[in-house]
Amino acid sequence: MKNNFYNQSLITVDNLTKNDCFMLFERADEMKKLVLEKGGDDRLKRRIMAALFYEPSSRTMGSFITAMQRLGGGFVPVVGTSDSSISKGETLEDTGMVYSSYVDVIVMRHSQPGSVEKLSKKALVPVINAGDGINEHPTQALLDVYTIQNELGKLENLHIVFFGEMGHYRPVNSLAKLLTIFPEVKMTFVSPPEVKLQEPVRQYLRKNNIQFQETDDIKKVINDADVLYVTRVKKEYMAENLYHKIQGKYIVDMNLVHMMKRKSMVMHPLPRVGEIKEEVDKDPRAAYLTKQMPNGMYIRMALLDLILNN
Ligand code: CP
Repeated sequence: MKNNFYNQSLITVDNLTKNDCFMLFERADEMKKLVLEKGGDDRLKRRIMAALFYEPSSRTMGSFITAMQRLGGGFVPVVGTSDSSISKGETLEDTGMVYSSYVDVIVMRHSQPGSVEKLSKKALVPVINAGDGINEHPTQALLDVYTIQNELGKLENLHIVFFGEMGHYRPVNSLAKLLTIFPEVKMTFVSPPEVKLQEPVRQYLRKNNIQFQETDDIKKVINDADVLYVTRVKKEYMAENLYHKIQGKYIVDMNLVHMMKRKSMVMHPLPRVGEIKEEVDKDPRAAYLTKQMPNGMYIRMALLDLILNN
């Protein structure tokens, strides 16, 4: 099978195929075994990754950096804009040229939609989008789909119920779009009316003939959900009055989880801010702490390996 990741940037999920996903998942399985048995190896020795995190991150930055280290590589961390020449007015395009002179791959998070693509246009090395504003978070979608495959044993004929804030939530955009490549996947978006699914994603689903619905009532769909994908209210992207209007309205507790099928999953890209009660954490359906988070590192190890080694 051809490695389509090799020497390529990953800015969006739009062009990913099932073969790409399964190649990545197979490599992630190998990475998990490698980490559990030996801690890692040296296949990325003398390769260096720039980790440009102009927006806060725990999981994505931590897992990319540990992924690189577990494979013997090095990294340049840039956290926030104040310690970078961006604060002096350097453009994203020039920043792409700067790091292309020093590293083999760039991972970048930024608050502006399209910013990672902009930097990648001038970069001479592959660039990975670690989240660009309210737009996309492709590696989150890949680790989410990998987790669904591992836990439910399939990626077809599933009902994915997204629950919470959709209007500013990049993991929803990337996951909903990526799921369109798998057969007979049905989606429901349950959100307050003020923060519904973004129109470009709605159009994307329509163009791909995906069966989906939107509602504000979780009780209508919870008993049919294979995956309940919970989101945080993105306070940082909205006016304070809107935040206070919707925060705390959509909560997952054991009363809700008891309405779900026995073989189903509760997912959340995290961080959570009260939208999943801690009482849910011990339920076998809870995948956010014990499955998605570790899978994030295995998927990012696999991705770095496939991008840097053919
Ligand atoms: N899921 C996710 O992107 O988490 P971080 O913001 O902590 O990276």
